[in-house]
Amino acid sequence: MSDISIEGVRDGDLAAILRDFDRFWGDLDLPRYLHHPMFFLEFGDTAFVARDTGSGEIAGYLLGFVAPTGDGYIHFVAVRDDSRTLGLGRMLYERFEKAARDRGAVALKAITGPGNEGSVAFHKRVGFTEMVRVEDYGGSGRTRIVMRKPLS
Ligand SMILES: CC(C)(COP(=O)(O)OP(=O)(O)OC[C@H]1O[C@@H](n2cnc3c(N)ncnc32)[C@H](O)[C@@H]1OP(=O)(O)O)[C@@H](O)C(=O)NCCC(=O)NCCS
Repeated sequence: MSDISIEGVRDGDLAAILRDFDRFWGDLDLPRYLHHPMFFLEFGDTAFVARDTGSGEIAGYLLGFVAPTGDGYIHFVAVRDDSRTLGLGRMLYERFEKAARDRGAVALKAITGPGNEGSVAFHKRVGFTEMVRVEDYGGSGRTRIVMRKPLS
């Protein structure tokens, strides 16, 4: 892999991510439609990719926004299967945290499924201190682990 740059999203990134979808999500059974274009258009200022400066390929991405509650909410973060544990996930979070702080966020929030132990371990390593299991999250009928990192 050549150098990686953490950048804001640009036209064509959603299509590129969907083309490589299985390499980001493997067997996690995530519906593609949850990658709504609004995360690249209306919330594009808080969406980032880890881009290979040589090939232009996307090695990782983070889609998020700052909610009126003050939460910097991470909708999705994923790193391609051949680029994991190199620090890209952490770099994407650092970039998002700065953007969220600049927009007045007082905490970061992410959710994950109870079976995604890798996600919980990753979030603990990048500073998330609250991990709360919520049955019927938001009335969805699904159990989720709600993870938070207060921003001082
Ligand atoms: C979770 C994910 C984004 C992490 O990305 P990454 O680039 O591999 O993470 P990083 O290399 O930046 O790792 C940061 C820290 O987390 C740790 N970590 C990362 N993945 C881990 C895992 N599966 N288990 C335990 N620790 C993990 C790293 O060892 C590192 O710790 P360190 O700082 O002490 O060295 C990536 O594994 C992924 O895309 N998974 C599939 C999609 C997914 O589950 N997304 C999250 C949904 S909420």
